[in-house]
Amino acid sequence: MNRNTKRSLLLVTALSCFLMLFTQCKDVKIEDAVKRGKLADSAMVVSARQEASAIGASILKKGGNAFDAMIATDLSLTVSYPVAGNIGGGGFMVFRDHKGKTGSLDFREKAPLKAHRDMYLDENGEIIPNKSRFGALAIGVPGTVAGLFKVHEKYGSLPFADLINPAIELAKNGFVLTSGQARRLNYYRDDFRKANGDKIYLDKEWFEGDTLKNPNLASTFERIRDNGRDEFYSGTTANMIVNHINKLGGIISLQDLNKYSAVWRNPIEFNYKSYTMISMPPPSSGGICLEQLFKSIEPFEIKGLGHNSEKYVQLLTETERRVYADRAFFLGDPDFVTIPLDTLRSKTYNERRMSSFSWDNATPSSEVSHGDIEIIESDQTTHYSIVDSYGNAVAVTTTLNGAYGSKVYVEEGGFFLNNEMDDLSAKAGIPNMFGLIGAEANAIEPEKRMLSSMTPTIVEKDGELLMVVGSPGGSTIITTVFQTILNVIEFDMGMSEAVSSSRFHHQWLPDEIVFERTFDTLAFQNLRAKGYNPRSGESLIIGKVDAILVLSDGKLEGGADQRGDDAAEGF
Ligand code: DON
Repeated sequence: MNRNTKRSLLLVTALSCFLMLFTQCKDVKIEDAVKRGKLADSAMVVSARQEASAIGASILKKGGNAFDAMIATDLSLTVSYPVAGNIGGGGFMVFRDHKGKTGSLDFREKAPLKAHRDMYLDENGEIIPNKSRFGALAIGVPGTVAGLFKVHEKYGSLPFADLINPAIELAKNGFVLTSGQARRLNYYRDDFRKANGDKIYLDKEWFEGDTLKNPNLASTFERIRDNGRDEFYSGTTANMIVNHINKLGGIISLQDLNKYSAVWRNPIEFNYKSYTMISMPPPSSGGICLEQLFKSIEPFEIKGLGHNSEKYVQLLTETERRVYADRAFFLGDPDFVTIPLDTLRSKTYNERRMSSFSWDNATPSSEVSHGDIEIIESDQTTHYSIVDSYGNAVAVTTTLNGAYGSKVYVEEGGFFLNNEMDDLSAKAGIPNMFGLIGAEANAIEPEKRMLSSMTPTIVEKDGELLMVVGSPGGSTIITTVFQTILNVIEFDMGMSEAVSSSRFHHQWLPDEIVFERTFDTLAFQNLRAKGYNPRSGESLIIGKVDAILVLSDGKLEGGADQRGDDAAEGF
């Protein structure tokens, strides 16, 4: 077992300590006898941290819209969820406004100008372990601050200062660490020191209940509040970033930061039965893969198979196998590569891909393509969902990639920098940290955005808002979102129940199905007999979904994943 695998398993074990299926059904008549999560009459924020959800909800309460709340929530996550919350990373936002207008924003990181195809290979053309994952060379040009300002400029209704001030207060006054947070910070102490060549502010022994204050981050936010977007891309903060990266031998320059911009993109929209899904287009693979998955299962009678039954696992596994194989070959940054979108998204293509599927035997992945790799689950991205009382909905997934990103910490600025370069393909056919294989389409090029699996998604039913959903989990994000949506629309679960429900994952390579927790062992035997390779572990978690469901009476139900410390706040 390599170090990263061990680390992931340890983190996963730590997070699973929080795992408890719970239901909250106070004060309300339970619809359809399902177990409900937190309910709200008109507005809600669900995120990885209670503080961030509460700050987002307070913005909504004071009349701000979902876009305002996005900015406040995101900045609060940078403070209170440093493992993934970020101004040193990037992400994607999908929205549907109260009139039904949809859109998406790409604030994904970009490869620096000095990046080149073989930058992670040695003289024999072999990958240098960890070079794309750890330290200054792993960092992509961050997009989050540009993204937040772009959202504010177009859709914000409150002054930016009102949206950043709560995060400044939070950074000054601090927040109380959960046991998982303390354990994670302690676990990475050596890496923090190694990546920065020095002891960083966060490098001390932490305990559950400690208050973590971050005065340097508060000052960075004050400068951003006072000087605007350019503070991060050409001001004092930009210089802090570049100086630190240069000192550590990295290649990101002021020119890289100056040139960065976030991009509005047309979302991927498609129908499944009476539902319309609105999701993220490339450079995320999320929307296209989700569409392919739904198109592949559409001819089948899903509900009749039974939730998480042997046949259900088989069908989803076979669709996932084929879709992830396509992902590896065809998808990349649309500004650099031509993606055969029409074909990948067509009903006939996806049905044809499924024509080799049989209920009797697994289709070996080697027959779909070839490779030999290992999957690593982890949980270091973060998703939040927001619905405001005007009816606007926002889904955001944002990340540093790995836990605390590259581990490079801008001490004076108080924040971590991502290791998103690992999402580019360092060498064709060699897996990245999520076991994902890339090809030419995702090869390293200067200024290229790395292919992502992040899948912030909004679902409509009969033209009305139904659900806002998304998850962290690297390669498992897409299947997590897919299964959570199916839990609601095919298996009639409420949001909390759908989020809590056990998940499984297949990603073409390695040719195995990974199961969470409580699956029937008999089904495993049957699956093995058919040629599948099931893998399970009590400590494995797949994804961490934060979602909102609009109930038939118009109330909102939060699904805050209890695999983490996630929380819903609303009114
Ligand atoms: O963009 C992506 O697909 C990855 N960088 C996401 C990383 C992630 O989800 C890590 N946490 N589980």
